[in-house]
Amino acid sequence: MTGVSLRFVLDPELTDELRERIVALWVDVTNAGGAVGFVAPVTADEVRTIADPTLAGIADGPDRLLLGYDDDRLVAMAIFTDPRFHLKPHLRVLTRVMVHPDTQGRGIGEALMREAERVAHRLGLAALHVTVRDGLGLDRFYRRLGYREVGRWPGALRVAPGDDRDEILMWLGLSGHRPG
Ligand SMILES: CC(C)(COP(=O)(O)OP(=O)(O)OC[C@H]1O[C@@H](n2cnc3c(N)ncnc32)[C@H](O)[C@@H]1OP(=O)(O)O)[C@@H](O)C(=O)NCCC(=O)NCCS
Repeated sequence: MTGVSLRFVLDPELTDELRERIVALWVDVTNAGGAVGFVAPVTADEVRTIADPTLAGIADGPDRLLLGYDDDRLVAMAIFTDPRFHLKPHLRVLTRVMVHPDTQGRGIGEALMREAERVAHRLGLAALHVTVRDGLGLDRFYRRLGYREVGRWPGALRVAPGDDRDEILMWLGLSGHRPG
């Protein structure tokens, strides 16, 4: 990884300051064109409409937060989202996978996903699942990491009037596989 000293924190204490830093990361990623639930431009208040219930699902619920820091700067995050369905105790959906635009393209996203894989193994999960907005090449990022496409919701994401994108369903089976 070039020019980055990266460390990961699982299950950080969700202080008010950290919540604000997460919202700021989410805003910057979205406004640089990232596909994390919004379409640019967004404000912090708009992001909070989704970030607040998302963080409540971590603070009060079953979801788990993984953060990546370059020294003390928050540069990456991903959420292990529990499907909240008793027949799926062995699966998690990785959501809100993001790296700050200033630090994208330096291997942090890959390191984040490898760390998520290690955590998933420790949790004894059988698979990780991600859903991906089509049309941005993001599926290539996941394919390189071993995720395979298992289906699509056609035109499920309306990013603008007349611009509906497929939602690509991607899957990483974990049994018998250990990340390097
Ligand atoms: C997608 C994202 C997490 C990747 O993180 P990153 O730190 O930039 O990625 P890395 O530097 O680790 O790249 C790893 C590999 O994936 C490829 N890659 C990264 N982002 C890509 C993208 N958007 N499209 C296609 N390939 C991509 C890189 O080219 C690299 O491959 P290479 O080594 O052969 O060049 C980051 O770009 C991001 O936060 N994007 C905005 C938020 C977003 O859309 N998240 C996805 C939600 S489904």
